[in-house]
Amino acid sequence: MRIGIIGAGPSGLAQLRAFESAQRAGVNIPEIVCFEKQSNWGGMWNYTWRTGLDEFGEPVHGSMYRYLWSNGPKECLEFSDYTFDEHFGRPISSYPPREVLFDYIQGRIEKSNARDYIRFNTAARWVSFDEDTQQFTVVLDDRANDRTYTEVFDYLVVASGHFSVPNMPHFKGIETFTGTVKHAHDFRGAEPYEGRDLLLIGSSYSAEDIGVQCHKHGTKSVTMSYRSAPMGFDWPEGMEEKPLVTPFEGDKAFFSDGTSKRFDDVILCTGYQHNFPFLPSEYRLDNNNCLYPDRLYKGVVFNEQPRLIYLGMQDQYFTFNMFDAQAWFARDVMMGTIELPEKAERDKDIAKWLAKQDAIATPDDDVDFQTEYIRELVDRTDYPDFDLEKVAELFKEWLRDKEEDILRYRDKNFTSVITGTKAEPHHTKWLDELDDSMERYLATADELAAKKKKAS
Ligand SMILES: Cc1cc2nc3c(=O)[nH]c(=O)nc-3n(C[C@H](O)[C@H](O)[C@H](O)COP(=O)(O)OP(=O)(O)OC[C@H]3O[C@@H](n4cnc5c(N)ncnc54)[C@H](O)[C@@H]3O)c2cc1C
Ligand SMILES: NC(=O)c1ccc[n+]([C@@H]2O[C@H](COP(=O)([O-])OP(=O)(O)OC[C@H]3O[C@@H](n4cnc5c(N)ncnc54)[C@H](OP(=O)(O)O)[C@@H]3O)[C@@H](O)[C@H]2O)c1
Repeated sequence: MRIGIIGAGPSGLAQLRAFESAQRAGVNIPEIVCFEKQSNWGGMWNYTWRTGLDEFGEPVHGSMYRYLWSNGPKECLEFSDYTFDEHFGRPISSYPPREVLFDYIQGRIEKSNARDYIRFNTAARWVSFDEDTQQFTVVLDDRANDRTYTEVFDYLVVASGHFSVPNMPHFKGIETFTGTVKHAHDFRGAEPYEGRDLLLIGSSYSAEDIGVQCHKHGTKSVTMSYRSAPMGFDWPEGMEEKPLVTPFEGDKAFFSDGTSKRFDDVILCTGYQHNFPFLPSEYRLDNNNCLYPDRLYKGVVFNEQPRLIYLGMQDQYFTFNMFDAQAWFARDVMMGTIELPEKAERDKDIAKWLAKQDAIATPDDDVDFQTEYIRELVDRTDYPDFDLEKVAELFKEWLRDKEEDILRYRDKNFTSVITGTKAEPHHTKWLDELDDSMERYLATADELAAKKKKAS
């Protein structure tokens, strides 16, 4: 049996890890090839300075930026088979910056031979399925060697992410706006916005996080314009929310409450598209960002073609640990240790989850929904069990913390549900910390004081 994986971000790496753990337990695993269009693994966490196209003319995948700190406690995403204690050897704070989390993701996989399974700089271009052989043919482009070739697989795992292709709605008059306009996907840091009046359109995580980053790094004013509902945090002076922009005129935006303001720059924080240009339309997911994409049995198996697996396609409270739960489940489906029920049964199960999703009324319900979903997966596999329900409580606490103080919630520290280790406060308050490098993050207060003394 041959298994193809598209993408070596946290989801694709979780799939490799799941097979590796079976192998370590003495199970004969299938032949696996993972294709990654970037030159390194880590997906979103593999920071790139590029925007637009990469060195090979591929659309740039990365949407992360400098000064990106985890927006949820690390205790809510900890791998249950590779803890933060194991990786860092000592407690660290609950909200590390991107580079530190990238290092953690790499740490688990570097100890295995996972790199041998991955073909880097290789983009999946097209997938077809042969009903007679029940196999996929994947057309691949080795960008570094300018070589196109095909490979045949019995199962295909799509782990290509869904926060990379911008959703770019048109706003009346935006084409004549005299300042800069970009999507959050192309935002790489707050510096260009220092001393400027910035408009963010959208009212979710990107608007919130880019807004507070820019405020922290010296943007003169940050205005966030919402379509459905404001985020409603207690914003500091210099940050405010407005209803949706109606037209732009020159350098001004007019809002639906009748007010207007002049801006230097606009960033569309309007989310991302599920986009699978390498799949024929009948195999593409076409939902928006939601907790339970339709047509996926257990959120993973494409119902009309169960040899096609999707990982990480949900909106995400849980991230790395959810990808693990999915990857372990997918592994067991592919290896036949989990038997899929008939399609009618699978349809029923999907309908059950969709109805549950429809009944969600609050962010706490979101958390409970995703917890229940992951619980089902973890209980079906040998992924090391962990206190998921306690993690749900941490998420709810995190939601309250943000309500309490959107600029200071990252100073709080949590206890790992896996090791019982209490996170260590970061040496500098988040609002005062302008350096997000791993070197500075991991330095102790004493080391920093000694360095400062030496420099003076
Ligand atoms: C701005 C931003 C900030 C975030 N911050 C956090 C955070 O603080 N905490 C958190 O837990 N999560 C955060 N996330 C969520 C993040 O998406 C997940 O943590 C995680 O990266 C998802 O993993 P993935 O493997 O599913 O997708 P990705 O990380 O997107 O990886 C997908 C991989 O597939 C590859 N690929 C795509 N198409 C092809 C192709 N055709 N051929 C070959 N390879 C392909 C890509 O190059 C990429 O490496 C953030 C997301 C964004 C956009
Ligand atoms: N530091 C961090 O960790 C960090 C930072 C940024 C992002 N992220 C992650 O990135 C992911 C994506 O977040 P996101 O905020 O980019 O996307 P998102 O959560 O899908 O939100 C999209 C936003 O765009 C709005 N929108 C969509 N179409 C619109 C339109 N036509 N007009 C006006 N508004 C429109 C939506 O409004 P409605 O509410 O009306 O639909 C919503 O507010 C999340 O998983 C998040 O955790 C993390």
